Amino acid sequence: MLHKFELQYPIIQAPMAGVTSPKFVAACAEAGILGSIGAGYLDGEQTKSFIQQVKKLTHKPFGVNLFVQEEPRIDVEVLQNARMALQPFYDELGLSTVQSVVSSEVFEGQVQAVLDEDVAICSFTFGIPSADVIRRLKENNVYVIGTATTLHEAKCVEEAGMDAVVLQGGEAGGHRGSFTEPMQLIARHDLLQQVAGKITIPIIVAGGIVSKEDVTTALAHGAQAIQIGTALLVADECEISPVYKNAILESKAQQTTVTRAFTGKPARGLANDFSERMKDAVVAPYPLQHYLTSTIRKVSAEQGNPQYLSMWMGENSHLVQPGSVKDIIAKLI
Ligand SMILES: Cc1cc2nc3c(=O)[nH]c(=O)nc-3n(C[C@H](O)[C@H](O)[C@H](O)COP(=O)(O)O)c2cc1C
Repeated sequence: MLHKFELQYPIIQAPMAGVTSPKFVAACAEAGILGSIGAGYLDGEQTKSFIQQVKKLTHKPFGVNLFVQEEPRIDVEVLQNARMALQPFYDELGLSTVQSVVSSEVFEGQVQAVLDEDVAICSFTFGIPSADVIRRLKENNVYVIGTATTLHEAKCVEEAGMDAVVLQGGEAGGHRGSFTEPMQLIARHDLLQQVAGKITIPIIVAGGIVSKEDVTTALAHGAQAIQIGTALLVADECEISPVYKNAILESKAQQTTVTRAFTGKPARGLANDFSERMKDAVVAPYPLQHYLTSTIRKVSAEQGNPQYLSMWMGENSHLVQPGSVKDIIAKLI
């Protein structure tokens, strides 16, 4: 894999939808690791334009990551109860409640953007894309990567004919890539030990990787590469808000939590008033909850209020240190 993509280091910058910018992805590629565009929230045209902007900034290969989405099963009563649970936040912020939630069909446009722009790598989370999508990508020499959180899911990724798998440990920041029930939080190293030797495709390990020791241990136990999110979120080139960056840098051990309250899918981020108050609340399925909470998050961001924001970060957020992408990578190798 390293050889194929001329990577200097066996490290992948985690695709982070809503967070990655062309400048950040290009800076990662230029630092000798694999840059990745988190395109999950973009439509086909936006994906294409993002790819073109990265190409203007670097000639190195990079990846695009897409969400495999299922139509949510809409139970009117659950949706109504989910709306009621969020009403206090709407009232407090003076917002009118979201009345309709539409999930647009953008996946095909995203895949076409990857093909049209000859992107080298396409990774997926939340499930396995259709056999037709995998075939079209592979016929066009796109290296296809899946995400798994259990041995069973890793086997599904391999059986689907994908080229490699990201094993996402329970420590990982952001959404769980899980696509089978029950959702499990298996620690990165345990997951690697469960999977290594049971599949033949290359393994990429993710979740709470913040030190040289984490990297060498993963590589010594069967991983071909590692994927890093949180440690790179605090890079100078990463264009997240100062509120978010400071929250990561000032976080303490045990302050993250896995919550479905923001989007309907379990995701790990800094525990705050929103995740606390919504602990036992009814939550609509993804992506309905994502739309139901989007104005709450938007207004909180405008107000610089971290308490109602989703600030995804991994369990080891308290161990990351600021610097340029190159500085951060230098400490890991
Ligand atoms: C802010 C943020 C956004 C993320 N978005 C995505 C995404 O769009 N697609 C994806 O496959 N993984 C996403 N992830 C998960 C990462 O791929 C990876 O599993 C995780 O960052 C590894 O854990 P770490 O953050 O402790 O390094 C995201 C993670 C974070 C922190």
